[in-house]
Amino acid sequence: MEFIAPELKPRRPFRWPAALRGSKPAIFFGGDYNPEQWPRKVWDEDIRLMKKAGVNFVSLAIFSWARLEPQEDVWDFAWLDEIITKLGSNGIAVDLASATASPAIWLAQKHPEILPIDEDGRTVWPGARQHWRATSPIYREYALKMCRKLAEHYKDNPYVVAWHLGNEYGCHNLYDYSDDANKAFQAWCKERYGTIEAVNEAWGADFWSQRVTSFDQILVPRHVNGFQNPGRMLDFRRFSSEALLRFCEAERDAIEEICPDKPFTTNFMVSGGAGQGVDYDSWGPSMDFVSNDHYFMPGEAHLDELTYSADLVDGMARRSPWLLMEHSTSAVNWRNINYRVKPGDTVRDSLAHLAFGANGILYFQWRQSQAGAEKFHSAMLPHAGENSQIFRNVCELGEDLRALSEAGLLDTRLKRSDVAVLFDNESSWALQCDTFPTRKLAEFPEAFTFYRALLDLGITSDVIPVNGDWDGHRVVVVPNVYLMSSKLSQKLEAFARKGGMVIVTYMSGIADQTDRIWLGGYPGALRELTGVRVEEGFPLGSDFAGTPDRLTLSNGAVAHDYADVVTSVDEGVEVLATYQAPADWGMNGVPAVTFHTFGEGACVYLGCRLNHENVAGILRPLLPRLGLESAVESSSDVLRVVRVGEAGEDGVARQFIFLFNRTDHEVQAPLEGTPLLASLASVDENGSQVTLSSQGVVVSVIE
Ligand code: GLA
Ligand code: GLA
Repeated sequence: MEFIAPELKPRRPFRWPAALRGSKPAIFFGGDYNPEQWPRKVWDEDIRLMKKAGVNFVSLAIFSWARLEPQEDVWDFAWLDEIITKLGSNGIAVDLASATASPAIWLAQKHPEILPIDEDGRTVWPGARQHWRATSPIYREYALKMCRKLAEHYKDNPYVVAWHLGNEYGCHNLYDYSDDANKAFQAWCKERYGTIEAVNEAWGADFWSQRVTSFDQILVPRHVNGFQNPGRMLDFRRFSSEALLRFCEAERDAIEEICPDKPFTTNFMVSGGAGQGVDYDSWGPSMDFVSNDHYFMPGEAHLDELTYSADLVDGMARRSPWLLMEHSTSAVNWRNINYRVKPGDTVRDSLAHLAFGANGILYFQWRQSQAGAEKFHSAMLPHAGENSQIFRNVCELGEDLRALSEAGLLDTRLKRSDVAVLFDNESSWALQCDTFPTRKLAEFPEAFTFYRALLDLGITSDVIPVNGDWDGHRVVVVPNVYLMSSKLSQKLEAFARKGGMVIVTYMSGIADQTDRIWLGGYPGALRELTGVRVEEGFPLGSDFAGTPDRLTLSNGAVAHDYADVVTSVDEGVEVLATYQAPADWGMNGVPAVTFHTFGEGACVYLGCRLNHENVAGILRPLLPRLGLESAVESSSDVLRVVRVGEAGEDGVARQFIFLFNRTDHEVQAPLEGTPLLASLASVDENGSQVTLSSQGVVVSVIE
């Protein structure tokens, strides 16, 4: 019997931090501020320079536990009061943290049973940060006491406009294998499955004698000597994300009981790279507004990866405004090689987040630390001080944001696209398992390849969580949505029947939500819709001489990593491309791309992994059949993003047009409306065309 996962919780109504009394609502601009790292005399200098840069919002006290409660039940809010007053009276609003991201060392010493235990049974000691268990009743008690103290102290403070719960929950303590976690995992399984027999079935527990007879036999996936049970792993990831969410909600509720009138958020870590450890789309409903931290990915995909992530955050925020809580003015400190940004990136990247729906642009952090693990991480105010390129960039950005606020950007939202690219975090978790036909599948989300391919065609798509609002789009891309409930496959079928176009890739619709395979030929849950039947996978690789590491398609595209062995197609399915492979592998002539008319709509199926240029090449001739000719808005060199307002009485809606250069050379694009700002770009004499150098951006407005 198919297990049906619980529905998402109802969403809290959207609430956004209020502007300070006497200030007009504006795009928030600022960053994490850690005044406790600096002597008092630096604070006044900070305020002067924040004002110079146009900063109007900072996050405080994220890592301040040891200053706020230096010993058990000894409280010191005086320093925090002082800096909040300084900031607020200078027009800078405060996003106040719950201060629980890193417990003070005295707490860890008094109660080592709050410390996480890793997979191998080792204790995670203080010395870095986030050394706490989400499931520890003792940690919860201390953390909620901190929350209540802060709420009582700051509930009426006019300068505190939002609550910042924790910080990047799960960044360092996502997986905990302690006895507390084990007990909580048992309870979680009981709540989700009801009976122990349902757990056995979900996890395929007759495999390798893993059957259990009571919930207290359930174990978290501690170190084993072989392959972990994939069903248990998937549930452990779900549980770990949920355990942190429950903790975060407990913090929120403790504060809200005392201080109900300020909105709550926490900073997500949505990016296009490896899968997300926390299932953020299931966290969105618990927030009043969504915030994200994003750090650029160095290299040629920098802008595309950034906008893919921002687009996905907008989908998670269900198109309400969101806050870019952190990004960097230049290098980070946590990669092997911490590349700096290129000139123009600081302004360009911020404007790209704004284009995709952010209504606030914040950094980690205001002033670069003099000591500690992040002293080489860039900041708004670098070690070099005010007389520095980075600070000049920050001031330029502050100016740009002020101009955009005045032009009314806050009253607009990202314009909806005709194409939705689905993102399914649970499928990316499942694909990270090491027992798939190839481990290459987990490397990068296929959703990103399709997002880029669509940009190559001049189409800016909406990246939407699989549980989000995608059925109003014309085209839906289903990229590696490996886990598929029958409810989802029926929804996709109904969408196509009514005229929707669905694009499905290999490795979609393979297993149900417990990671049990849909039988009878792949892609089991999407057999009807795709009209193809696959009997085996064809992993590609060169680790043995004589194995193919690529397959050429009849249309010239080249498959890598993985291809489906399509053994038959249903009547009426058009084969658009086949493999042209060495005869001895049995792939010659096997369908690679097909088109299946389904009800009023259709389903295109792509049976292999391709790079974004090849996906674009396959989709280009299909645009008319997909009804997407009019969705092409720019050349592939230019990213065009539109934010649109409500239509006025005259029926006209204000639009902001953002144009970004996606290439490493100068490009031109038509200018629409009145130019508002240009960075590394210029407008020609008659105002009809813009020239963008490689990190260039132009924003114009049509009233
Ligand atoms: C070994 C084991 C089997 C199975 C196969 C898989 O031979 O005995 O149980 O795991 O490997 O290749
Ligand atoms: C995260 C954290 C910050 C800081 C930055 C550095 O986003 O929230 O405290 O460590 O990373 O990039």
